[in-house]
Amino acid sequence: MTANTNKAGTESIVHCEDYAAPDHNVESIHLTFDLVPNQTTVTARMIVIPKDDRKSDDFVLYRDDVSMTYLKIGGKDSLPGQYAFVADKLIIHDISEPTEIEIQTRINPRTNLQLSGLYMSRNNYITQCEAEGFRRIMYFPDRPDVLAKYRVVIHAPKDYKALLSNGNLMEQGELLDGRNYAIWDDPFPKPSYLFALVAGNFVAQEETIKLANGKEALLQIWTEPSNQGKTDFAMQSLIKAIRWDEERFGLNLDLDRFMIVATDDFNMGAMENKGLNIFNSKCVLADSRIATDEDFARIESVIAHEYFHNWTGDRVTCRDWFQLSLKEGLTVFREQEFAADMLGTPSARAVKRIQDVRYLRTNQFPEDAGPMAHPIRPESYRQIDNFYTTTVYEKGAEVVRMYQTLFGKEGFRRGLLEYINRFDGTAATCSDFLTAMEESNGEDLSQFELWYSQAGTPRVSVSSKWDENEKTLTLTLHQSNRSFPGRAAPKPLLIPVSIGILGDDGKDIELQLQGEDNPDGTTRTLLFDQQEQTWVFENINSRPILSIGRGYSAPVIFDIEYTKDQLAFLARNDSDLFNRAEAFDRLTLLMIDQYILDLQKKGPNQGRDHIPVSEAYLFTFEDILNDESLSPAYRAELLKFPDENYIAEHRILIEPALVREVSDQIRKKIGTRLRATLEDKVQKMATPGAYRPNPIDAGKRALKHVCLGYLAFADNPKAIQQIRALYKTANNLTDQLAALKISVEASLPIAQELLNMAEIEWQREPLLMNKWLTLHSRLRHSREQRTVVEKIHALTLHGSYQPKNPNCIYSLLYAFFRSGGPEFHRPDGMGYQLWVNSVLSTDQFNPQVAARLARVLENWRRYEPSLSRMMYKALRFVNSHRELSPDVREIIENALY
Ligand code: ARG
Ligand code: ZN
Repeated sequence: MTANTNKAGTESIVHCEDYAAPDHNVESIHLTFDLVPNQTTVTARMIVIPKDDRKSDDFVLYRDDVSMTYLKIGGKDSLPGQYAFVADKLIIHDISEPTEIEIQTRINPRTNLQLSGLYMSRNNYITQCEAEGFRRIMYFPDRPDVLAKYRVVIHAPKDYKALLSNGNLMEQGELLDGRNYAIWDDPFPKPSYLFALVAGNFVAQEETIKLANGKEALLQIWTEPSNQGKTDFAMQSLIKAIRWDEERFGLNLDLDRFMIVATDDFNMGAMENKGLNIFNSKCVLADSRIATDEDFARIESVIAHEYFHNWTGDRVTCRDWFQLSLKEGLTVFREQEFAADMLGTPSARAVKRIQDVRYLRTNQFPEDAGPMAHPIRPESYRQIDNFYTTTVYEKGAEVVRMYQTLFGKEGFRRGLLEYINRFDGTAATCSDFLTAMEESNGEDLSQFELWYSQAGTPRVSVSSKWDENEKTLTLTLHQSNRSFPGRAAPKPLLIPVSIGILGDDGKDIELQLQGEDNPDGTTRTLLFDQQEQTWVFENINSRPILSIGRGYSAPVIFDIEYTKDQLAFLARNDSDLFNRAEAFDRLTLLMIDQYILDLQKKGPNQGRDHIPVSEAYLFTFEDILNDESLSPAYRAELLKFPDENYIAEHRILIEPALVREVSDQIRKKIGTRLRATLEDKVQKMATPGAYRPNPIDAGKRALKHVCLGYLAFADNPKAIQQIRALYKTANNLTDQLAALKISVEASLPIAQELLNMAEIEWQREPLLMNKWLTLHSRLRHSREQRTVVEKIHALTLHGSYQPKNPNCIYSLLYAFFRSGGPEFHRPDGMGYQLWVNSVLSTDQFNPQVAARLARVLENWRRYEPSLSRMMYKALRFVNSHRELSPDVREIIENALY
């Protein structure tokens, strides 16, 4: 991290190496909540136990934005000298024996717009305590390595039907004054970040299931009454997740009751509070009218993710926040494996893998190449909330996946269960996980541990030489890792590289390494652990083509030079469905690069749209489109035109207007040249009958939409009619939304008409209106309308846009900033102006969300100079504000210095 001279100061940086265990444990905490919107009173009685090996008798509690009405120590009112407030801490002296401490705080949930701690969503009470929200409710050693047993009493107004907290419901009823109360008891000790409370007018869908261990469990999904009936899918997903964890890992639900609550006001996707998961409504509510195929898939995954945290996160938690990937990387991996198993077929699993890797490349690679780069186990931070990143989550999951690649599914399961056995009920570290894995598999993983401490995406350059006479293929791999100023030079990582070799018949060759007596399969995982390493394969009788990194066996960039013919060959023949897609992806990017070169040779006004798309490319495209042996979902995934951000990420200099021009032209040409085939597929991919969000139907819809998209870019009148009809006659949101997206992106004449219809149809449903807002982030400049920025700004005043609601901010502003198009990256800087205003105004009430907005410009150095200069100015302007939150300050300073 760079030196800090600003007011936040160097002392506000937390370093991993400074970890010190707490001097006191909290055995139990009894909390009583008197819920009043502007003045909630919270009373806590905790039993504090000093540790034998403590360094000090000072008991340290954290606080943030709470006031204390009293403090009792050992049952007596505290005296002035017994405690002290130091910055964000309350220190109680002389706790050298087990002591009861009682504290009462006052908080204001109504004005809590940060949505951290106890806040209100309409008239309902919700908590979010990860990472450091509990200290906004109660003075407490709010750190994940302090695990206590919780008992919670809630007092609330009479009309508050649902009064929920973690664990088991012990009692509920009416108080003498007519209000309601409930008492909850959580038998499992937990860190404060897993505490939760929900109170309000909610209704539940319930189901009782029998667990694998014979016990019964009550499952509940709570929503506001208006959302009743939209939880069936989530309930089915939860049951599937419970079954999967029983089968795959033998892990059972350990509570009599497991609850999920949906709320519209939430900073993130969802939260794994013990026994009481709280979800952003967009990650739970679904039916054919409000959710797309993608939403259904996402909901299934997020429900599973939070459920899986019950073991990987709750039963075994993190020692400190530097270990965040210990629970998040692992749980994302578990979620990905679950999703793949639910899909079943190899082709559907491949689609999921392709999507996950695309997500990694579009979002994590730029992070790892930019100013926020950090290892999956970061070394320092100013605001932990800024480190809930794609690096910690998705790259973290790739690192966990590598254990499974190295040890196989059985070995992985053994290691995971060993880890859980060793650390159940405690707070662990990433090294603990690694040790459990290596010891239960009898391997030394000391080099592998570097994945936890080295940032940057490794590059693996691949070269190979076929010796026709010797019939050998010599493969040489060379790795290079990003170095960071002021840090030790990076060391070579242990990289599992799964490979296959295709013969000229397109079939896999049996792989036999020099020195081996017999071949051993057609896909093998090489352990690449040096800077440079060579392998020799024997009995390679025909000219071979290498299939490198099958299944994406490591989160690296494989630099390998293929000819276009080789890529087309792999795209048709590779037995590894992931790498087959990979080959076509490389081919597409090569074609785009070539097109850009050709375009750059032309002047501004000379026939810029007369460049042909290579015939060979079109052939391969059409072949794949027609290949009935491939599932529609798989074909759709390969053939959909790459996202502008994805294209940009592959280029050295980012030029948004150029990327747009090229994307539009190429899509138009594909739509024109392959018209007949595309039209044929649109027809064949019909999904008559009732809507079902299953992967087969979803795949057909996806392919139909991809084809319609190309045809729309070619201004195909028949397609335009079909798109209009698709919107009007659809029995599901997936078709409707696709029709809208295509019309907006291809600037079809029907776009405005469809947007207007949707606005009327969707107005009563916040989740749908958020999608409607997002559609505007795809609006294009046109001659009449050069003013998308102004439109987006105007929409912040629309009746459906709630300015303090994170989902609205993400759907409209964040989506627009992240779209990466020339409408945001405008040459007059108006887009950046809107960004400045949005970051500053959001920071006034919700720093976490503001910091996410702020990150949009962090890679300003990679843009063409005229844009880059303006981005720099915008960043400087934000940084000149004295009142920035530490969250935004950290992002902006990282970006600038
Ligand atoms: N642990 C949550 C998950 O399942 C995310 C919570 C993020 N909270 C935050 N303040 N950044 O991934
Ligand atoms: Zn998580």
